[in-house]
Amino acid sequence: MKGVIIAGGKGTRLYPLTKIINKNLLPIYNKPMIYYSIQILADAGIKDILIITGTEHSGQFISLLNSGDEFGVKLHYEVQKKPLGPANAINVARDFAQNEKIVVVFSDNIFENNIKKACENFKKQKEGAKIFLKEVSDPRRFGVAEIKEKKVLSIEEKPKNPKSNLAVVGLYMYDKKAFDFIDKLKPSKRGEYEVTDLNNFYIKNNQMTYEMLNGHWTDAGTFDSLLAVNNWIAKKSKFNK
Ligand code: G1P
Repeated sequence: MKGVIIAGGKGTRLYPLTKIINKNLLPIYNKPMIYYSIQILADAGIKDILIITGTEHSGQFISLLNSGDEFGVKLHYEVQKKPLGPANAINVARDFAQNEKIVVVFSDNIFENNIKKACENFKKQKEGAKIFLKEVSDPRRFGVAEIKEKKVLSIEEKPKNPKSNLAVVGLYMYDKKAFDFIDKLKPSKRGEYEVTDLNNFYIKNNQMTYEMLNGHWTDAGTFDSLLAVNNWIAKKSKFNK
């Protein structure tokens, strides 16, 4: 399996922090945000990782991360030419994936737990995709899954009236079909190609599995969540010393 890190996006919710700095290079305590995504993939034994950024800051990622030796992985870089949404960014990984299964991480998502077991489970899954769910108090910020009898019935992107409190976190596993589905996607109301629409294709095809995410998880895309995750990592780092 190969890894894909999505580190593009406009970062509008964190403006002006993101006026001249890419969101994924902002600090999370003592490391730039993107370090955490590389680490979670490296810890899961994924050695081949593609980082997809916007055109503006791509050089900074290469200067910072280089070939990935520090993490014991091989890093590759690609740019998403226009900020047309997460599914459009995933599409950039088409050639890199070469028909292998991929694990996609949104770089502003910080996870506590290892995903090694989940990757092993997905390797055994014959085909399809896998998403990860976490109970949250503010589901309107996320893709929200409706579950019945251990099956994902649907996902709604940032719904006004969420059908559950189960957020779909920014970690996805796909087989090669993802790129055929992406070809069929249409832009959402906000003019972007949504990962939720891609996932709904798999759901309609009866090929979506899910796991509940253990441990702490944050989408660091807002001022409050960015502050909270900084404090949490700081506490955790000091505790582990
Ligand atoms: C994206 C997805 C959303 C998902 C979230 C996880 O939202 O569109 O479905 O729940 O990532 O972080 P964004 O944070 O880009 O608005």
